[in-house]
Amino acid sequence: MSSAIEVRRLGPEDWQLYRRVRLAALKEAPYAFGSTYEREAQAPESRWRQTLVDRARFVAEVDGVVAGTVSGGDGDATGAAAMTAMWVDPRFRRQGVGGVLVLHLIRWARSARYDQMFLWVTDVNANAERLYERNGFVSTGAVQEIRPGELEHEMSRKL
Ligand SMILES: CC(C)(COP(=O)(O)OP(=O)(O)OC[C@H]1O[C@@H](n2cnc3c(N)ncnc32)[C@H](O)[C@@H]1OP(=O)(O)O)[C@@H](O)C(=O)NCCC(=O)NCCS
Repeated sequence: MSSAIEVRRLGPEDWQLYRRVRLAALKEAPYAFGSTYEREAQAPESRWRQTLVDRARFVAEVDGVVAGTVSGGDGDATGAAAMTAMWVDPRFRRQGVGGVLVLHLIRWARSARYDQMFLWVTDVNANAERLYERNGFVSTGAVQEIRPGELEHEMSRKL
C-alpha cells in the first residue's frame, strides 16, 4: 500500500524544523537555488521566524517524516503569486511528492485570490522544469543570471 502524502503549513514556532529542511535543501541541491547554505546557516532565530511570516511555507510529510517543502508569497506583479524554495528529499523523489506540493501551492494561491503564479528555474534543472510543465507552467521568456555564467528562466501559469 502506498503511503499518504500530507502537506501542512508551518508557522514561526516551527522555525527549527524549517531551518533543518531548508539547510538540507541548500546543501543537497545548490544548483537549484539562488541562496547558499553558507549564507543561510548564519541566520539568527529571529530571521527564521520572520521568514515563516513573510511567506506561506509548507512541508509534505510521508508517514510523519518530512519529505519536501515549497513556499508561496507575493510575486512582482499585482495579483501574482511566486512559488519558491521547492525541494524534495532525494529519499522521497519520484513518488509524486513534488507534484503534490505544486498542486497544494496552486490551491493555496487560488484561495488567497491570486490569479497567476510565477517561478524561476535554473537552466541546469530539467527535473524541476518537467515537474512545472506537467502542472501547466510555461516559459515567459524572461531570463536572468543567477550566478556568473549560470542562467535561470521564468515560468508562469494562470490560476
Ligand atoms: C524537482 C523535484 C522537486 C521533483 O520532486 P519529485 O518529488 O521527485 O517530483 P514527482 O515525484 O512529482 O515527479 C518526478 C518524476 O517522478 C515521476 N513519478 C511520480 N510519481 C511516481 C511514482 N509513484 N512512481 C514512479 N514515478 C513517479 C513523475 O512522473 C516524474 O517523472 P519525470 O520527471 O521523469 O517526468 C526534486 O527532484 C528536487 O527536489 N530537486 C532538487 C531541488 C529542486 O530542483 N528544486 C526546484 C527549484 S526550482
